[in-house]
Parts: sequence; C-alpha cells; structure tokens
Amino acid sequence: MPVTAYDLTGRTALVTGAAGGIGRATAALLAEAGATVHCADVDEQGVRATAAALTATGAAARAHRVDVTARDQVAAVVDTARRATGRLDILAAVAGIMHSSTVLETKEADLDRVWNTNFKGVLHSCQEAARAMIATGTGGSIVTMASGAVDTGAPGLLCYGASKAAVIQLTKTLATEVGRHGIRVNAVAPGWIRTPMTTRHTTDAQQQAERPMARMSPLGRVGEAEDVAHAVLHLASDAAAFTTGQILRPNGGVAMPW
Ligand SMILES: NC(=O)c1ccc[n+]([C@@H]2O[C@H](COP(=O)([O-])OP(=O)(O)OC[C@H]3O[C@@H](n4cnc5c(N)ncnc54)[C@H](O)[C@@H]3O)[C@@H](O)[C@H]2O)c1
Repeated sequence: MPVTAYDLTGRTALVTGAAGGIGRATAALLAEAGATVHCADVDEQGVRATAAALTATGAAARAHRVDVTARDQVAAVVDTARRATGRLDILAAVAGIMHSSTVLETKEADLDRVWNTNFKGVLHSCQEAARAMIATGTGGSIVTMASGAVDTGAPGLLCYGASKAAVIQLTKTLATEVGRHGIRVNAVAPGWIRTPMTTRHTTDAQQQAERPMARMSPLGRVGEAEDVAHAVLHLASDAAAFTTGQILRPNGGVAMPW
C-alpha cells in the first residue's frame, strides 16, 4: 500500500530546470505522486517534451518557457500556476548551470553568468513562490538545488560552488522567515549525478572523473537523476512535515558532514 504522506494528489508543483536531467526526473516523480506539475525551463523544446511525456502517462502537466534570471518571467509562471488550480504547494528550484575554471582563470563575466542563474534565478523563484504560498494561505514546500561541491574543495568550481553555497544560505534564511506561514524550505545537495550537465557541459577531464567519483562512494557508483528526484519528493511531501532549513545529501556517502 502506498505511504499516504508521499501522496501529492491535489497539490500543485512548479519545477524549474524541467527540460532534462534532475529537473525532468523530479517533474516526473512529483507527477507520479499525484501533483499537477508546471514544468519550466529556458529550453522550450526540452520542457515541452517533458510535459508531453508526463501527460502521456495521464498526469496533469504543463510546459512553460521561462528564463529564471528574468524575474518577470518567473513571476508570470508562478501566477499562471497558482491561477490554474488556485494554489501553489511545491517549488522545486532545480534550474542551474555549470562553469569550470580555476580561481586564477575566472573571469568576471563567468562569475556573473553563473551567479545570475544559480543564485539570482533561485532567489527569484523562491521569492515569487513564497509570496504566492503566503497569499494562498495553505503553506507549502520549497526545495532548492545546491551541490556536494559545498562540502569539499572542488578544483575549478569557484563560481559554481560559491553560487551553491549562497543557495544554502538563502534556503536557511528563508526557512526562518516563512515557517510561520507553514512554508518549509530545504536544500538538496547531490553528489556526482549522471545528467546532461556532467556529460555535456564539463571538460573532458571532469568526464574522466566519473569512475574515481564512483570509487569514492561507499556504494561504488555515481548517482542517477532519479536518486535526486526521490530526495526532492521526500522534502516536498508531508513525510518531511517537521523538516525545514535542512540539507539533504543524495551523494552516495562521498561526503558525510555532521
Ligand atoms: N548533475 C550533477 O552531478 C549535479 C550535482 C549537484 C547539483 N546539481 C544541480 O542540479 C541541478 C540540475 O542539474 P542537471 O545535472 O540536471 O543539469 P542539466 O543541465 O541536465 O539541467 C539543468 C536545466 O536547467 C535549465 N536552465 C539553465 N539555465 C536556465 C535558466 N536561466 N532558466 C531556466 N532554466 C535554465 C537547463 O536548460 C536544463 O534543462 C542544477 O542546479 C545543478 O547545479 C547537479
């Protein structure tokens, strides 16, 4: 028998970064749990494909072309999602980009690009979703996407790691501010996950790193997008009703912070 705390029937979710990888897997799992899912991504073709795949299974899903760096676009999709069902219960702020350069090689333009997407994009999403949840008055769950990069020194990942550390600070701060409205805010900090980001956007040297990364895990493998999606589902659902301001780490045990 399914565990009812994980049942999202009647809930409305917005997933950013839903065109591929972790975002697509998250949208699919939240839909499988019963939520109406609004899939948002700057990749219009990809996000349409995600929503089409979900509706083909009988789920309620819609695609939205959204650039999370543009606050007005984020506000518009939050408004559309809330108007459609009268509520917004879940935000999974997954959209993000990777950039690799050493500290000494990092250019200001790279820092701005990563910061705008990975931090400001999540900030816009959290602010607009939290406002909608407060206005509706039924509480909600916000899940941000950090990274295992915050738990270790990660060579070449200054911009990325700094933006994800900021996401964690945003998550904890917002959790303290909106808890009284019944809104929980938590972060997921995945380890190495096999997605388009790790197979397409990184350097050859980093792609070669997948095998050593697998060896670093007590479980002997790297992660799959579904491993992270299940962590998001847990935090989004009533199973995590007393969990806020926390970091959940689907990282295969590569890092074990207190
Ligand atoms: N793959 C990993 O090993 C790993 C590990 C830790 C954290 N993460 C984080 O998980 C999240 C998802 O990563 P992924 O591995 O699935 O990567 P991915 O590249 O497959 O997916 C990222 C998605 O975000 C979208 N996106 C990028 N910029 C956007 C913007 N401005 N507006 C809207 N959408 C935008 C992309 O189009 C893409 O669909 C990211 O935040 C990433 O930093 C990934």
